[in-house]
Amino acid sequence: SGGADRELRAPICCILGHVDAGKTKLLDCIRRSNVQGGEAGGITQQIGATYLPVENIRERTSLKPEAAIKVPGLHVIDTPGHQSFSNMRMRGSSLCDVAVVVVDITRGLEKQTIESLDLLKRRNVRFIVALNKVDRLYGWKTCSNAPIAKALKNQSDDVRSEFKWRVTEVVTQLKESGFNAALYYENKKIKEVVNIVPTSAVSAEGIPDLLLLLVRWVPEIMTERLTYVNNVECTVLEVNEEKDFGTTIDVVLINGTLRKGDQIVVCTKLGPVTTNIRYLLTPYPMKELKAKGVYKHHEELKAAQGVKIAARGLQHAIAGTAVTVVKPGDGVEQAEAAAVQE
Ligand code: GTP
Ligand code: MG
Ligand code: NA
Repeated sequence: SGGADRELRAPICCILGHVDAGKTKLLDCIRRSNVQGGEAGGITQQIGATYLPVENIRERTSLKPEAAIKVPGLHVIDTPGHQSFSNMRMRGSSLCDVAVVVVDITRGLEKQTIESLDLLKRRNVRFIVALNKVDRLYGWKTCSNAPIAKALKNQSDDVRSEFKWRVTEVVTQLKESGFNAALYYENKKIKEVVNIVPTSAVSAEGIPDLLLLLVRWVPEIMTERLTYVNNVECTVLEVNEEKDFGTTIDVVLINGTLRKGDQIVVCTKLGPVTTNIRYLLTPYPMKELKAKGVYKHHEELKAAQGVKIAARGLQHAIAGTAVTVVKPGDGVEQAEAAAVQE
């Protein structure tokens, strides 16, 4: 019956790249938030998760209201670029559907950019390159929120020529890492050649292009993978202390539905722990899950979501492990054995 009437879940999109390439700032620009400004030393030290509903994405693009978008939104995972956090980059890249590799146009590919590309290559994850900080090209004229083609049209010949040689350099470097890449608007083989989207996280040029590419291209190339299925697939991102809830786990619900009261098995340093979901919480849309804030309570939640779970016995939970749900009729021992196997 084709893919037209399938229910697709939100793609999980992981942001990767070298320290200070502008990953968090790009998300701030999209969310209209200031998470980056609140980070110690401007360095991300925790993996983050934000839900971007399709209405907010639509508002940032020039899409006509009647233009169809096949996904309900995007679920974005922010990772740290600092070299000591490779475990978090690994966690992010292993659970995502697609990635955005952020590259500072004035610096080209750097050490953790290459590390990130290797992670994606190993896991066969499709990605987009956001060639960020275009506003730092000498003489750049700001065109806030403009699509990149329009912004480039407004620049002098000098700026355009610097832009061009810097893009060429990054394309060459990507080739050395084993990837064919091209500016997305010149890319004739979007199935094989990596799309490059020039962006600025400060003046927001190229943001409409990046968002549009994500909501259109991603469902097109992975309809099967994004088709909602009822099996719970859920990974722990972080273990956190919360004043009101005690120890909680931040998880990404990749597929299936979680309900308040569900019996779950969590992997801990002391072995598998079986417990019941006491609270099922999410941040508000466009808000960062890791930012301590106000949470929405839910009776049930359907994938894909970033979720905070409060329950007894989470003190020694291990980030990066799977959470399994004990189905009625399943033995707890069976579920615990399965949890340890994963
Ligand atoms: P880590 O998470 O620590 O790896 O860094 P990051 O990739 O998240 O970079 P971050 O968002 O912290 O930005 C690093 C610095 O670059 C900050 O001072 C930002 O304000 C600045 N920055 C990020 N994007 C842009 C951009 O597009 N233009 C300009 N001019 N500055 C930018
Ligand atoms: Mg950051
Ligand atoms: Na930073």
